[in-house]
Amino acid sequence: MKLWGGRFSKETAGTVDQFIESIEVDEKMISEDIWGSEAHVLMLGTQGILTDEDVRNILIWLEKAKTDYSEGKLQLKREFEDVHMNIESYVINGAGPEFGGKLHTARSRNDQVLVDSRMYVRKKILEIQRFIFALQNSFLELAKIHKETVMPGYTHTQHAQPITVGYWATAYASMLSRDVRRLSHAYEIVNLNPLGSCALAGTSFPTDRELTTKLLGFDGVHIHSLDVISSRDFVIETLSALAIMMSNLSKLAEEMVLWSTFEFRMIELDDAYTAGSSIMPQKKNPCVAELTRARSGRVYGSLMQLLTIMKGLPMGYNRDLQEDKTLLWDALEVSRQTLIVLNEMLNTMKINSGRMLELVNSNFSTATELANYLVREKNIPFRRCHEIVGNTVAKLISLGKNLSDYEEVSKVLKESDLNISAKELESFLDPVKVVQSNKSLGSTSPAEIEKLIAGLEADMQEKMGELDARESKIEDAKKTTSEIVSEVLSGKEVAETVRSNL
Ligand code: ARG
Repeated sequence: MKLWGGRFSKETAGTVDQFIESIEVDEKMISEDIWGSEAHVLMLGTQGILTDEDVRNILIWLEKAKTDYSEGKLQLKREFEDVHMNIESYVINGAGPEFGGKLHTARSRNDQVLVDSRMYVRKKILEIQRFIFALQNSFLELAKIHKETVMPGYTHTQHAQPITVGYWATAYASMLSRDVRRLSHAYEIVNLNPLGSCALAGTSFPTDRELTTKLLGFDGVHIHSLDVISSRDFVIETLSALAIMMSNLSKLAEEMVLWSTFEFRMIELDDAYTAGSSIMPQKKNPCVAELTRARSGRVYGSLMQLLTIMKGLPMGYNRDLQEDKTLLWDALEVSRQTLIVLNEMLNTMKINSGRMLELVNSNFSTATELANYLVREKNIPFRRCHEIVGNTVAKLISLGKNLSDYEEVSKVLKESDLNISAKELESFLDPVKVVQSNKSLGSTSPAEIEKLIAGLEADMQEKMGELDARESKIEDAKKTTSEIVSEVLSGKEVAETVRSNL
């Protein structure tokens, strides 16, 4: 019989069992489910809701569930519907109904599933943040090597102004720092304790929700029971942060695709991070970058699906909410894999600096600096300089020349009554000089890039400190719970042991 079978006169149909179970999704949260139950039962004992004997008999089997699961002796069964009822049934079966039957006192699967998923998600957020740090770090290392390597900067995918590879790389590190921040904020919302909300209305038992908060390493109690039971915005927030991050990563992917083409040739992807064609022997395809582009869509899809699931749901638990985890697990896994492989690709790709310089010299990317020079040295209003340089560019194009043909540029400028020697032009129009002369805050000059690197490194240090503190808080809570469990199992009094350990 089902644990909830009392009011039913029939077994559920096989098709229904299959339709509603969530075993595969729940499997990831087994250790969280057991930890949550241990904290719950210790709280019940501390509060005198269960006797020490009850607590011990339940804890023995919760501990045994851990080892049996790791040894493959405990397998989640579909007929028990979910991880919660699998573990509870295991305890009832082992400890007997007079003890095991007490585990679910003052608790519902509605708060239980939130304990499990919040504890699982917080761990994954921290893991993903670590992978972002690794990618940020690779960009910063690249930036240090290529502070002066000139490349075309683009707007509209057209040559705009010269920048450096170091400048480009710090842009990604800067962008990723916001992904870390967004996930960090999601973490604040995720890591609150729902346990004790029960089905929706709290309970008439004298529970202590602060106590389970400490045992489970939550940062605080999610106080409103009906709100916490009804809400999945902690998942939406996490999915939003991941969707934005994937959108950011798709930018990198797109640049990898574009820049590794024969037409661009600015980078060469390592053979180990590309794939071939079954018919065209010469092909080397940027499949990883392309799949990254596509998978950003998959993560947006998860976000959109959950927003759609949540739209118009009334307050209270609704079974619709079960669908959140499939989406979140997928998005977490896609994000994790993407971060890892892109980092490897970035670290193995070759930068073709010769080609970059060739491009930067051949398509008027220094035109703005020529206009700036005229403003500065000839005291001509910028709008007029824009026109002069525009005409100069048009003339040079008709002659088949460009702005690095300084003699030619000098001649064309004479037609506008401007006397600037080829030597003088070279002294400020050489792309290397152009990037050096951009000294405004957050610009391309190597000195500014150094400041950007330092700022981003300091930011990373601070955020890593926060991550380490969060990770050790979880570890400490886990250790404390398991120390209390073993002391209680060795015969010590429950309430006293719990209180003296917290
Ligand atoms: N598998 C369910 C979920 O993920 C667990 C909660 C079930 N609660 C209930 N009242 N049926 O949401």
